[in-house]
Amino acid sequence: MITNKEERFQWLLLDWFSRNHRPLPWKGERDPYIIWLSEIILQQTTVEQGTAYFEKFKKTYPSVFDLANAPDDAVMKLWEGLGYYARARNLLAAARHIVFELNGSFPTTYIDILNLKGVGPYTAAAIASFAFNEPRAVVDGNVYRVLSRVFGIETPIDAPHARTLFTDLAMILLDKNRPADFNQAIMDFGATCCTPAKPQCVGCVMQADCIAFQEKKVHVLPAKSKKMVKKERFFNYLIFNNGANTYIRKRIEKDIWQDLYEFPLVETRELGTEDNLNISNLHYTIIKKSQPFKQQLTHQTIIGIFWEIEVKDGQLLKEAGFLHVDRGNLSAYAFPKLIDSYLKEKVLTLF
Ligand code: ADE
Repeated sequence: MITNKEERFQWLLLDWFSRNHRPLPWKGERDPYIIWLSEIILQQTTVEQGTAYFEKFKKTYPSVFDLANAPDDAVMKLWEGLGYYARARNLLAAARHIVFELNGSFPTTYIDILNLKGVGPYTAAAIASFAFNEPRAVVDGNVYRVLSRVFGIETPIDAPHARTLFTDLAMILLDKNRPADFNQAIMDFGATCCTPAKPQCVGCVMQADCIAFQEKKVHVLPAKSKKMVKKERFFNYLIFNNGANTYIRKRIEKDIWQDLYEFPLVETRELGTEDNLNISNLHYTIIKKSQPFKQQLTHQTIIGIFWEIEVKDGQLLKEAGFLHVDRGNLSAYAFPKLIDSYLKEKVLTLF
C-alpha cells in the first residue's frame, strides 16, 4: 500500500523534474541499443566525462551490427581513458551475442536484458523503462543516497540486505504509469540536487519531508559500515629503446587494465630501484628514470616509474612475446591513463 509520504515523494520528484530539465544527448531516446550504450558508459562515470564518449561511440557504431563487427582493439582504443575496461569488453561480447545469436534483436524485457553480459539490475531497469516503458525502478548510488536521506534509512548501503530494502522501496515509489520519467527524475535529482558532498538543501523541494534534513543527518546518510582500505601498487615500466622501436604487450591477466597495452612491467613492493628491475640478462644502459606518476583507481593507487633503457639486442624480449613497435606509432594502441600521461609529457620534453 502506498502511504501519504510515498505518494508525496513521487509527486514532489516528478514536479521537480518538470521544472528542472537537464538536456542530455540520450534523453528521450527510445532505441534500446543507444540507451544501453549510454547507460554502460555512464556506469562509474560522470555525465561530464561520459558525454563525449557516448557521442563518439554513437557516431562510430550507430547500430548494434556496427559494434558487433568492430575489431576488439578498435573498441578498446575508443574507450581509452574512460576506465573500468571490463565494461568495453562486455559491451562488445553482448553486441556479438545479440547480432550472432539473437538475430540482431535487442531483448525487450527486464529479465532478458538482465541476461546480457555486463548488465546488472540498474542498467536493465534503465533500458527496460526508457525503451519499453516497463515499470522497473533503477537503484544505484544516487538512489541509495536520495532514499536514505528523505526516508531517514540508517541501514548501511553495503549491508547484505540493503539492495533488497532499497529496491522494494523504490518499486513502491515508482510511478507505474511514467517509469521512464520517474527513473530519469531520481537520477537527475541525485546527480544535481541531493549530491554526496554539497547537497542543495536550501530551496530543495523535499526539505519539509526529508528526515535527514530535519534531523541534521544529511552528511551522515547514506550510512556505510566498512571503511575501504586502498592498496598501493608500484609499477616500473621499462621502455626499451632499440633504434626507432620499443617493446609493448597486451595485458591479458585478470587484473586491472585487461586488454590494454603496456611496456614491459616489473611490479615491486615499494618504489623500484635499478636493483630490483631484474634485467641483468640484457645488455642495457639506463638513460632516464621518470618522476613517479600516480593513478587513483577505486580500490588501489598505482604509482608508476618509467625507465628509459637503451638495448642493443632485444631478442630476449621478442622471445618473451613482446611486440616490437615503432615508437612513433604508439598512439595506435590503447594504453592505461598512467602510461598516456607519461607519453604526453615525454612528447613535450624529449622529442
Ligand atoms: N547516470 C546513469 N544513467 C544516467 C542517465 N540516463 N542520465 C543521467 N545520468 C545517468
